[in-house]
Amino acid sequence: MILPLTSKINNKKNLTIGGNDVIELGDKYGTPLYIMDIEAIKKQCRSYRENFSFPDIDTDVIYAGKAFLCTAMCQLIEKEGPGLDVSSGGELFIALNSGFPPERIYFHGNNKSPDEIKYGLESGTGYFMVDNFTELEMLGKFCSKGAKRQKIMLRVNPGIKADTHEYIQTGKLNSKFGFGIHSGAALEAVKRVKQYDGRLELTGIHAHIGSQIFNISCYEKLVEVMIKFIKDVRDGLGILITGINIGGGLGIKYTSDDRPSNIEDLAVVVHNAVVKYSRKFNVRLDKLYIEPGRSIVGNAGVTLYKAGTVKEVNDSKKYIIVDGGMSDNIRPMLYQAKYTACVANKMDGSGSLGISDNSNDSEVSKMHYTIAGKHCESGDIIISDIELPAVSEGDFIVVATTGAYCYSMSSNYNGQPKSAIVAVEDGKNWLWVKRQTYKDLVMGDIKLYEK
Ligand SMILES: Cc1ncc(COP(=O)(O)O)c(C=O)c1O
Repeated sequence: MILPLTSKINNKKNLTIGGNDVIELGDKYGTPLYIMDIEAIKKQCRSYRENFSFPDIDTDVIYAGKAFLCTAMCQLIEKEGPGLDVSSGGELFIALNSGFPPERIYFHGNNKSPDEIKYGLESGTGYFMVDNFTELEMLGKFCSKGAKRQKIMLRVNPGIKADTHEYIQTGKLNSKFGFGIHSGAALEAVKRVKQYDGRLELTGIHAHIGSQIFNISCYEKLVEVMIKFIKDVRDGLGILITGINIGGGLGIKYTSDDRPSNIEDLAVVVHNAVVKYSRKFNVRLDKLYIEPGRSIVGNAGVTLYKAGTVKEVNDSKKYIIVDGGMSDNIRPMLYQAKYTACVANKMDGSGSLGISDNSNDSEVSKMHYTIAGKHCESGDIIISDIELPAVSEGDFIVVATTGAYCYSMSSNYNGQPKSAIVAVEDGKNWLWVKRQTYKDLVMGDIKLYEK
């Protein structure tokens, strides 16, 4: 199913999530509104915890905060057990400010500034994920000066092309991320770690090859390349590396055409590969890390919009213009991401929540629409063709699967205040993030003159 785990239809034929009528949520909090199904997030965390638990290797799950981060999410993740991947000083601040334990934070970023590095060190961040020589040097120098010992992992580029959109492939040979294994940069980086006189503790290597990956066989290749590299380091430099972090990337279902894999199968592929290649290369690993983002939050979130004008431009083109768009979900414009949607106050007919795989069993006659945003761009199209029951102004449109990379990529384009986020669970609802106000839009502005 594409809608969040706890979605149902009530006797008013409205969509409910977490036991809350979505229309009532819209009336209470306004639209556009991100709705997060807490039970769905907890279930995914639990599934990662249970499936990535092996008798022969200690495994840590790290939530990739770039997918969706706010104070309450950090606090939920802290309770559910994973570590937290942050990718900038700003994300680090959000995490620390929420009370997230610094020792469980993994500090990513492919161009950390000196200030970000100092901030990470001073706040006791558990691990620095080092991307490049500039950062390695800075980190080494700061640690030597302060006589501090810091755990690090080196991000390597394994030269693997994951089967996904090219904008979210991150482990190809010419990718901007990490130290190339094939170019020899990764080996050189391991050598240089030694120069810092024990100030930098190399706990492992990291690679992230892409996002929204359906064909998970690439993880076997990734594990092979990483363990082979560890063998080469041992044989060539006499240095033992005992941890691998395989990044995130597991794909999720956005539309009924998507055929993602699942956490259980991923765990089997990864574990089998670890066993196989540890044996083959005679390498002993004692720590495995995985760093999922999208597969934890993606399906847990929806965006609730209100339909404004419904415009028929010709026989074959009918627009529903909603009260948000590219400012709250840039993914369709950024990499042609596909979504599906339903009319939350017209969930009649199918009994299948309207947008699940068997949506065709609906007896209600449907029309083809394009769902467009309110922004001044022709490309501001959320869904270019979808069948829905007849929509009128004021109807509530739910776009599904917007839990990942929507709020975190949102903007104030066209002066649109950022949408509120509401959490729902067991019939209760409460705000995670307030809607921005017009005043928030000028908070950092400085007037040229007083009037
Ligand atoms: C370093 C790193 N780890 C983990 C992730 C999470 O990936 P996903 O959301 O596809 O699981 C990303 C996302 O781009 C990433 O850059």
